[in-house]
Amino acid sequence: MFHSPIVPRVRKRSRTAEVCIPGREEVKFEDVRLFLVERKMGRSRRSFLTQLARSKGFIVEDVLSDVVTHVVSEDIHTSSLWTWLKECDLKNLTHMLVLDISWFTDSMREGRPVAVETKHLIQDSAPTLPEASTPTAVASVSQYACQRRTTTENNNKTFTDAFEVLAERYELNEIEGPCLAFRRAASVLKSLPWAVKSLGATQDLPCLGEHTKSVMEEILQNGRSFEVERILSDERFQTLKLFTSVFGVGPKTADKWYRRGLRSFSDVLADSSIQLNRMQQSGFLHYGDISRAVSKAEARALRNIIDEAVHAITPDAVLALTGGFRRGKEFGHDVDFIVTTPEPGDEETLIPKVINRLTKQGILLYTEYQASTFDMSKLPCHRFEAMDHFAKCFLILRLEGSQVEGGLHIAEGDSRGWRAVRVDLVSPPMDRYAFALLGWTGSRQFERDLRRYARMERRLLLDNHALYDKTKKEFLAATTEKDIFAHLGLEYIEPWQRNA
Ligand code: UTP
Ligand code: MG
Repeated sequence: MFHSPIVPRVRKRSRTAEVCIPGREEVKFEDVRLFLVERKMGRSRRSFLTQLARSKGFIVEDVLSDVVTHVVSEDIHTSSLWTWLKECDLKNLTHMLVLDISWFTDSMREGRPVAVETKHLIQDSAPTLPEASTPTAVASVSQYACQRRTTTENNNKTFTDAFEVLAERYELNEIEGPCLAFRRAASVLKSLPWAVKSLGATQDLPCLGEHTKSVMEEILQNGRSFEVERILSDERFQTLKLFTSVFGVGPKTADKWYRRGLRSFSDVLADSSIQLNRMQQSGFLHYGDISRAVSKAEARALRNIIDEAVHAITPDAVLALTGGFRRGKEFGHDVDFIVTTPEPGDEETLIPKVINRLTKQGILLYTEYQASTFDMSKLPCHRFEAMDHFAKCFLILRLEGSQVEGGLHIAEGDSRGWRAVRVDLVSPPMDRYAFALLGWTGSRQFERDLRRYARMERRLLLDNHALYDKTKKEFLAATTEKDIFAHLGLEYIEPWQRNA
């Protein structure tokens, strides 16, 4: 049980403006609105938990309405809970997180809303099935991005840009469920070879819930979404976006700085109590350059530089351009490469040697090297980790204009003749090459859905290292991406069709 005091304490108001609801505790988490289901919990326990949550800065709604984001229940009878929820006449139910009490207890313990994980979700065991009259249209667009072909041509940019803002708002608040829901919805619209002109046209599409549809309806009617405009003009959102645009600054640091009352780069740089790490220092130093998109021609020039370096070290080295540029994007935020060698073990020393060479050439402005922690005996990994275990480095390189066909992608009037560019190198062992290439080619949404499809539809575990068959309890070998698609029983999707 909880060890925190139940009696609300009156905290001193911090420097950052926090919303205060009269007669209640200070609100710390404005984007989270809880509702505790009384069924099974009972009135007195509900009242106790409500007070506890409020004392920790959570908003707890007394009434279940569309403003609620998180529904918490102790009812283990999933179907009766969902039947009741569906009878509550909510427009927003598909976007509410219906959560087990364990999410609540974890959040109370941490003193903040913890990230929602699958184990916390109370799933609807009888989801509403699509109308029987529309099977062909439903079947034609898969709910999985890895069964759709998505080029860089986006016919629904107005909608997907709006969804991206909504997803970012949740991401910055570390609320995973709705963030993914908006990313999934955007991904479905990006795959369409036609532009959505009416809401009716979306009725057979997967992954579009009430909230996404209401945003689309607003855009169709008014050309804009007021919710998105509110977010974009929100000071906290703007500041967190600004801070996280710096290399090495994540949502947690950005939020910490915001809470200290900092609002601009000069505020951060003038605050003597802030110790920037090496990555952040470089992020500020080269901010103008690395916040500027990298062009395809610049990516090609960098490929030549890396190609020359790895082949000078090992003539039989293998180099592949990956990430967004492999998917045919015209611009990217960085340039991603895979480098490896046919001789097992040699790949582990390859990156340090490349770094050494680039240093001698005087073009290395920043380097963060991570040695390999890859160990086949520790696989399969049942929880997906954002970072894989291969040796890798995050670099900032100095790129000369003379090396770029058509010149640098820099501001007009910038006469330096060079720019800084972010480059990532990853170095898997050769027998892991296909998995690493598939994982690093992206897009992130495509990768997410490949893993989800493997797990849900095939009982297979996929990550950047391997593919594991949970039924047969064995690893499946692959030397090319096509082998992996074949193991998954998926049609092969070309890299340029993976812009999900
Ligand atoms: P990027 O963040 O570089 O994205 O990651 P991108 O698609 O190239 O787009 P830009 O750079 O913003 O234009 C490339 C891919 O590498 C994977 C990511 O999931 C993404 O799909 N990646 C990145 C990993 O698998 N592991 C990592 O540690 C980092
Ligand atoms: Mg990239």
